[in-house]
Amino acid sequence: MQNKSIKTEYYLPAEDTLFFADHIQNEKGKSALDIGTGSGYLANVLLPNFEVVVATDISFDATKKAHNLIQNCICCTSADPLAMKFDLVICNMPYLPSEEIIDSTVDGLDEGLIVPLQIIKLAKNVIKKGGKMMYLTSSLANHKKLLEETESLGFYTKIFATKKMFFEELILVEAVLK
Ligand SMILES: C[S@@+](CC[C@H](N)C(=O)[O-])C[C@H]1O[C@@H](n2cnc3c(N)ncnc32)[C@H](O)[C@@H]1O
Repeated sequence: MQNKSIKTEYYLPAEDTLFFADHIQNEKGKSALDIGTGSGYLANVLLPNFEVVVATDISFDATKKAHNLIQNCICCTSADPLAMKFDLVICNMPYLPSEEIIDSTVDGLDEGLIVPLQIIKLAKNVIKKGGKMMYLTSSLANHKKLLEETESLGFYTKIFATKKMFFEELILVEAVLK
């Protein structure tokens, strides 16, 4: 996670971004969606292997920045206004447990579950049957409960990759829609 003392108007690519990027660079398909795109870094990694890449972010500053890389950038919550369906949806979540949302790039509310679950619920509506979502959470969040809740929404889940950091373990989850 990015150092909170450095104030930017969007999330700068950090170690979590690069870890995520390593595991999506070989993904292929027709359509992909990057929710919470920030700088657009991860959406840009998907561009060569997908015919259509769409990126969303709740921050208008982020979508303005990402627009330099990705044509289809929309400022919204999760996938809320989208009508098309995607083969792959990715999201580097705001997963840190927090009492309130002070920094929407990292704060995930209670147990780091509330914001991620809101994002996953809306993402489910735009994933093709048999398509998948890949999202990042952490040992700092209640990741076990997040996987259980994801399963109860109708996904098969598995931990795709992990990375130990100094103060947390990054957990990349693959969730395939039944
Ligand atoms: C951890 S940052 C990841 C940014 C970028 N994808 C990356 O990996 O560098 C999380 C991003 O999600 C966005 N975000 C937070 N809540 C959101 C929501 N409900 N819907 C869409 N985007 C959201 C934040 O503005 C931020 O850009």
